[in-house]
Amino acid sequence: MSEVFPPKGAAMPRHVAIIMDGNGRWAKQRGLPRAYGHRQGVLTLEPVIEAAGEWGVEALTIFAFSTENWARPRDEVAALMGLIVEFFNKKIDELDKKGVCIRIIGDLDGVPELQRRTAETAMARTACNTGLKLNIALNYGSRQEIVRAARLLAEMCSRGQMRPEDIDENALEDALYTRGLPPVDLLIRTSGEERLSNFLLYQCAYAEFVFVPELWPDFTREVFERALLAYFGRARRFGRVEADARVTKKG
Ligand code: IPE
Ligand code: IPE
Ligand code: MG
Repeated sequence: MSEVFPPKGAAMPRHVAIIMDGNGRWAKQRGLPRAYGHRQGVLTLEPVIEAAGEWGVEALTIFAFSTENWARPRDEVAALMGLIVEFFNKKIDELDKKGVCIRIIGDLDGVPELQRRTAETAMARTACNTGLKLNIALNYGSRQEIVRAARLLAEMCSRGQMRPEDIDENALEDALYTRGLPPVDLLIRTSGEERLSNFLLYQCAYAEFVFVPELWPDFTREVFERALLAYFGRARRFGRVEADARVTKKG
């Protein structure tokens, strides 16, 4: 580990996305119910959010609950929903004070009333904050997001607000939950799994992927630094022959 982090000249990713995976296995290794792993996983978040803000990352998007996670046992889904409310209730003052701007991405109409209201309150309260953009993916699925965007654009066309030929990448991006955010530069997934699991398919078009073996409850600032060091070492070419100097380590 380098003494000084970030190393001199390193170009910080503007947008980091994290698939927080492995809570269940963490609990299982200790002979505990899966819900304990999720509870421990929430504790992992604080230093991660703190570090991202400190390093000047513009946006951090974390996968909290997928559209497919409803297929888990009822008590596990209930535990996760309970933790979401608990997280906001306990952390909102501190996040607000740090200037964090919270956005929920995902289908909030499909989550229980209490979770929806809590999430909406957190978004409204922090909407004008100018610090780290913290996007929490809740009942999020990338396929659902893209289908929704297609429908929104089709509706605008049928109302005469736009023409099909006006649909370009900008228009589609504006119809996604991530409207206005830069594309994902770095995607981190914990627990050794190497797949996207329906997360940010469009936004990760040119993301660098870093898979770390640690289970999410064991993810620390040091593991985060290691993932970033791997990212700094990548040559991002975007289809060109040479690495793009704007996003690659200088000096
Ligand atoms: C990630 O941990 C948290 C959520 C999906 C909500 P998992 O619950 O998927 O943990 P593993 O993958 O079963 O170990
Ligand atoms: C992805 O993890 C979803 C979240 C981290 C919230 P999963 O554990 O649900 O993904 P799969 O099922 O292993 O692909
Ligand atoms: Mg998992």
